[in-house]
Amino acid sequence: MIADRISRIGASPTLKVDATAKAMREEGIDVVNLSVGEPDFPTPLNISEAGKKAIDEQFTKYTAAEGILPLRQAIAAALKEQDGLIYEPSEIIVSNGAKHSLYNAVMALVNDGDEVVIPAPYWVSYPEMVKLAGGIPVFIRTTESGGFRMTPEQLRDAIGPRTRAVFLNNPSNPTGCGYSKKDLEALAEIVAGKNLYVLSDEIYGKLMYDGFPFTRFASLGPEIKARTITVDGVSKAYAMTGWRIGWAAGPREVVSAMAKVQSHATSNPSSISQRAALEAYRGPQDEIAKMVAEFRKRRDYVVHALREIPGVSCIMPTGAFYAFPNVSSYYDKDYQGKPLGDSTGLAYYLLCEAHVAVVPGGAFGADEYIRISYATSMDNLEKGIARIRESLARL
Ligand SMILES: Cc1ncc(COP(=O)(O)O)c(C=O)c1O
Repeated sequence: MIADRISRIGASPTLKVDATAKAMREEGIDVVNLSVGEPDFPTPLNISEAGKKAIDEQFTKYTAAEGILPLRQAIAAALKEQDGLIYEPSEIIVSNGAKHSLYNAVMALVNDGDEVVIPAPYWVSYPEMVKLAGGIPVFIRTTESGGFRMTPEQLRDAIGPRTRAVFLNNPSNPTGCGYSKKDLEALAEIVAGKNLYVLSDEIYGKLMYDGFPFTRFASLGPEIKARTITVDGVSKAYAMTGWRIGWAAGPREVVSAMAKVQSHATSNPSSISQRAALEAYRGPQDEIAKMVAEFRKRRDYVVHALREIPGVSCIMPTGAFYAFPNVSSYYDKDYQGKPLGDSTGLAYYLLCEAHVAVVPGGAFGADEYIRISYATSMDNLEKGIARIRESLARL
């Protein structure tokens, strides 16, 4: 018998689409995969070399469960230099990816029956993590016309006596929308004085476009810092998804509780990857700017091309590497004798008929949309969007 908590959650839908696309490819079908949530760039050479050196030097044993001190110091230095935030290494934990840090935080904070506020569209794992911890997700529905940002009024209304935490994802997966400092200050006013924590997932913070400034929520003053757990990592900004290094910075008692969870679940993240991540933070940073410039070019192409498709709207993302077009005007069109119905029906149609893999918006709690990742070559994007346009025109 499987435990009840497992029946409350589903498998990651983004990984499912990716797996189906890969299986079709293995059958020889030319699938354009626009579902992937990782940079297509190689890990910068200096970082890979640091990993190789760690192996050569036999840095291949257990480390402190919460991560090696030099890496936590390097993260603290980056937070100080870039965001004016002062953290002791004991207020920082290094995990097996940002996802793992988020999971540790939820496990450390949420009691059975506690409510956790999640703005939708949300990253797929937030509600499932909350449910695994026995908590209750409380969703805020953000709107396309409001730039997919939760408003202070929405946040105020969603917070109740059982609210333990609020998720914030800036900039967001799947919408690519970022919050300005002013937006964040307005949200900070709502959470100030409340007995809750903000889980601020800032994993895409280095991937911002058009000079849109990135602000860490914790930087909005000592009162806010004391109730914020910042989660970040090297996966997206340094093209290191497979190395599995993320981290969290927050109040010491929360980080200690997270370290306890981690110490019993996984112990330390890979010693080799920690050395590589140390080089990511301490070494040259110029690869990021190159990646951002390329992502921005692709974003402009994808969003403009999507907007030219009849019946499709798409807001211009300010960060990350996703476009989130509204395709709901096609849901009443028939395929195989019945209406497509929803985002899953449309994504299925695109996979079967256009051989393009996208993630249905329903997975993110926003069924009118699909998510298109532009973390793939311009050639793939041109081919993929042309196929989407043609196949939608056939409906
Ligand atoms: C919003 C968001 N948070 C966290 C993560 C997890 O990052 P990591 O690979 O470091 O676990 C992702 C990865 O897709 C993400 O999109």
